[in-house]
Amino acid sequence: MNHPPARRSPNRRSRHRSWALPAMGVAMLGLAACGGADATDLEEESPMADFDAAVARFDQEAIAHLPTPFEAMPSLGAELGGPRLFVKRDDQTGLAFGGNKARKLAFILADAVRQQSDTVITWAGVQSNWARMTAAGSRRLGMTPILVLQRREDQSVSPADGNLLLDRILGAEVRILEPGEDREAAVEEIVAAEREAGRRPYVVAVGGSHTGGSMDQPLGAVAYADAFGEILKQAREQGVEVSHVVHASGSGSTQAGLVVGAKMLAPEVRILGVSSGGSKARGEANVLAIARETVEAMGLGIEIAPADVVVYDDYVGEGYGILNEAVVEAIAVTARTEGLLLDPVYTGKAMSGLFHLVRSGHFADDDAVVFLHTGGTPALFPYREGVLENLEELPTDVP
Ligand SMILES: Cc1ncc(COP(=O)(O)O)c(C=O)c1O
Repeated sequence: MNHPPARRSPNRRSRHRSWALPAMGVAMLGLAACGGADATDLEEESPMADFDAAVARFDQEAIAHLPTPFEAMPSLGAELGGPRLFVKRDDQTGLAFGGNKARKLAFILADAVRQQSDTVITWAGVQSNWARMTAAGSRRLGMTPILVLQRREDQSVSPADGNLLLDRILGAEVRILEPGEDREAAVEEIVAAEREAGRRPYVVAVGGSHTGGSMDQPLGAVAYADAFGEILKQAREQGVEVSHVVHASGSGSTQAGLVVGAKMLAPEVRILGVSSGGSKARGEANVLAIARETVEAMGLGIEIAPADVVVYDDYVGEGYGILNEAVVEAIAVTARTEGLLLDPVYTGKAMSGLFHLVRSGHFADDDAVVFLHTGGTPALFPYREGVLENLEELPTDVP
């Protein structure tokens, strides 16, 4: 199969430019630009420029719509009381209904193209956003997606709905595993069969977070280190000093990347991950490990401490993918104040966490809290019944 030549995002070198930054980056990176620039230029531009340079050492395919919008949420802020709220619209990354995966896949699929792969193999749950976006990105770059999707006891796969319907439309080869079936063995078998047939599979773990298979650098997290720079630039252009970023945390590379970006560029910004299912201890250990691996891969020479990583598991409810009233309340209130749609598995849960943190006085009134919308909205549809039931139960003071 022919591959299109590796493309670089046309805006990748120009996306982040001149805004004031802490003076730490130059020394830490050891990449200080010299010659020509005066002292003020160096002070103001080099840390971010050097950070950009560290990101730019990784190839990217231009498959995501970037930068995504950064907007205020004044009506939601007024409804909840407390800090100013903003949203970073990574649900608008394009490709196939957007989400955080487009940014990650821009780097990961560039690696697949570099390795001259013709097939991309990954695994996930049946309603996986990662699987859908991997299918779309692979198709876009002329590769065949093979998805190994494991059903949960409570999940049906027929009729194909939400992400599974989109996987089918994208022509992914889908192999459904029953609960308890050995996923690792299934993937190994498919990889062997593909090689046997003369194809060149690229194997990447769920969420694009962990190295292993064909991916030997934490490219998903590199993408989100880059995204932190984008958030910072947009916020500063709008005169906003970000205090916190709140987002859904799952396989960990979104948070790991944000933590690395923040530590490098604006260490005063707290990154708060809201777990979609796993425990706090597991989530934090996982994010910390990926963040440290990312620092190493990007050659940043900084230390990520355990205290830099915060994952809340207080909003998980009964478990991954299980709807609860607080999630539906968060979805409804956000939709009815800002016209902004969230999903029931990740962003609705993260927003329910943000609601609780605001209402319990976690933030100061002059904080500026950014909700990173990581996408996932196609999963609203398979959850239609639970969403409708919970909407009917909402308290009457919900707008
Ligand atoms: C919509 C959405 N938000 C957040 C996440 C979590 O991102 P990460 O796996 O990088 O922690 C996922 C992961 O699948 C997702 O689909």
